[in-house]
Amino acid sequence: MFEAHRIDTTDKAAFYRELAAQLEALLTGESDPIANAANTSALLYQMMPELNWAGFYLMREGELVLGPFQGKPACVRIPVGKGVCGTAMARRASVLVEDVHAFPGHIACDSASRSELVVPLIGRDGAIGVIDLDSPTVARFDAADQAGIERIAAIYLSACGESAGLAKAS
Ligand code: SME
Repeated sequence: MFEAHRIDTTDKAAFYRELAAQLEALLTGESDPIANAANTSALLYQMMPELNWAGFYLMREGELVLGPFQGKPACVRIPVGKGVCGTAMARRASVLVEDVHAFPGHIACDSASRSELVVPLIGRDGAIGVIDLDSPTVARFDAADQAGIERIAAIYLSACGESAGLAKAS
């Protein structure tokens, strides 16, 4: 049985290398996108300090719909282009928000959230959804976190057979 173990968070590069290794171990041999999103959310929420929400929004009929997550109950549907999640999906690029109060159109699901990092999931046939992380601390996330979570997104996509150029695991 996989067991997450606590890792040093003072060196972010080392932290994300270790987190990536733990996620690879956790997802090995499983390609179900919901099961893998559930376990990815749980690992991120358990291992990353200063988070109040970690989870997935998944593309369903042209809009983002709440997927597996850890944290308080959240808004269910987010149109592409709206909020931080919808902006990341529309741009097909990560969005790092140091202070959500200064982000026009931010969707407040939990009033405790003060900073946010959203990384898009782009599969073989296009946009699949996003990974969303919220923190109660202003400027909790920086470029090192963005790079680290983009690596986490790539591991998730690969486990689900969604890496660009790879045939889908059946
Ligand atoms: N704040 C997000 C909405 C999702 S919650 O943070 C879980 C947004 O503006 O897209």
